[in-house]
Amino acid sequence: MPEAWWRGAAIYQVYPRSFADGNGDGVGDLAGLRDRLPYLAGLGVDALWLNPWYPSPMADGGYDVADYRDVEAVFGTLAEAEAFIGEAHAAGLRIILDVVPNHASDRSDWFREALAAGPGSPERERFWFRPGRGDGPPNDWQSIFGGPAWTRVPDGEWYLHLFAPEQPDFNWNSPDVVREFHDVLRFWYDRGVDGIRIDSAALLVKDPDAEPDGSDPYTDRDGVHDIYRGWRKVTDEYPGRMLVGEVWLPDQERFARYLRPDEMHTAFNFDFLNCAFEPHALRKVIDTTLATHAPLGAPPTWVLANHDVVRPVTRYGRADTSFDLQDRRHGAPTDRALGVRRARAAALLAMALPGAVYIYQGEELGLPEVEDLPDELRQDPIWHRSGHTDPGRDGCRVPLPWAGDRPPFGFGGDPWLPQPADWKDLTVEAQEPDPGSMLNLYRAALAARREHLGDGAMTWLPSEENVLAFTRDSGLTCVVNLGPAPVPLPSGDVLLASGPLPDGLLPPDTAVWTR
Ligand code: NOJ
Repeated sequence: MPEAWWRGAAIYQVYPRSFADGNGDGVGDLAGLRDRLPYLAGLGVDALWLNPWYPSPMADGGYDVADYRDVEAVFGTLAEAEAFIGEAHAAGLRIILDVVPNHASDRSDWFREALAAGPGSPERERFWFRPGRGDGPPNDWQSIFGGPAWTRVPDGEWYLHLFAPEQPDFNWNSPDVVREFHDVLRFWYDRGVDGIRIDSAALLVKDPDAEPDGSDPYTDRDGVHDIYRGWRKVTDEYPGRMLVGEVWLPDQERFARYLRPDEMHTAFNFDFLNCAFEPHALRKVIDTTLATHAPLGAPPTWVLANHDVVRPVTRYGRADTSFDLQDRRHGAPTDRALGVRRARAAALLAMALPGAVYIYQGEELGLPEVEDLPDELRQDPIWHRSGHTDPGRDGCRVPLPWAGDRPPFGFGGDPWLPQPADWKDLTVEAQEPDPGSMLNLYRAALAARREHLGDGAMTWLPSEENVLAFTRDSGLTCVVNLGPAPVPLPSGDVLLASGPLPDGLLPPDTAVWTR
């Protein structure tokens, strides 16, 4: 692949805890992942994005990083990680690591040093320590996971955490913090990592002392862009490496600022992820995405799922098919068969659009959200911090089913979250021989995409109401029927369809690729 491999790549997201367990302790690890590299190469993806693999007390599934230059013992060792990067490259897979610059773990050396050094010390300057107002916190900010965003330490000062108390926020005004992350990027680029996913990228700059003036005190502050200009400079020292930002911003003009030529290469398209399975809304998101990216020369990304959101098979079977981080609509009635049909069509849509596509582990198996996990097993801090009103994200993080007819379905040891018994029909082993399975749809689509698609232009075709139809430079046409009645097929040979095409028509909730 050329240096700008990321422009049209298919990128598979590995949530290491739940991918494959090589040592039988019930938690996914590097040994399991290395064993399954042939599966990933065979799926036909170009790169893997791994959620954090650093030493971590796991207060937020590894997004509480204790040491940015090492690997969590539950997952393996740094030496294994290095071997894994080499093996992935040999298998034709690039590696994107998750870097978490908004916050550390409260067990990190820096935070322990800050606690020990006391008020007014340079060690505390790396975080946001403040005296309280009377007996209360310095301001009334609320944590994104629920509850106050400040926690008091024994000497009476408070520290800021936009997420859980175990995740103290870095102070990006500190030159130590800026230098530290440049070093961390180099550390992993030197080990062959091809890209960095930037966690909570819009939140880094904040001003807890500012008088409330109506502007958001910590989301998308102008100063954040200097940070990414610095990261881009470091990244440009290493040819072929890329930055992809986790930038949740509804305002496209503000979003686009992160993709200026001296900042990130790409960012996740959450408007597409959030969008209902509805033709007008989807078309609008696609048009806006293309219009936002074109002047910047940055490739769009197409994302339907990740480790923070409700699995599409479940979401698309509901009456309201949109996604909202603030309201997961847990337990809303869902029609599984309809959800599967739509998830198949949506996958073909996402994979046909110009730019990069992200696939979250288990999407290729059509896994549903597990909504009936026993409460006492839930681990997501959102569950606890919301006072048990929001079940959180564990339901999309259940370990993958690989083979066999009962849990752990070839995952390894007794999985850290229990797998539903009916996943016996969704294992890789069960889907492999079935030409109509989700797995074989993904394999065929990724193979066809590699041959015919990528980052070239697209053109809308005239179409009936409720139908999305476009062609790509390569001559491939994608048509998705989101209406209630069958519609005619486009001309050309059918390369792939997301479902049966009875009577030579394209049924509702179905997509087709022709050439
Ligand atoms: C976004 C990550 O995707 C999510 O899983 C995590 O909880 C927050 N950032 C905090 O790091």
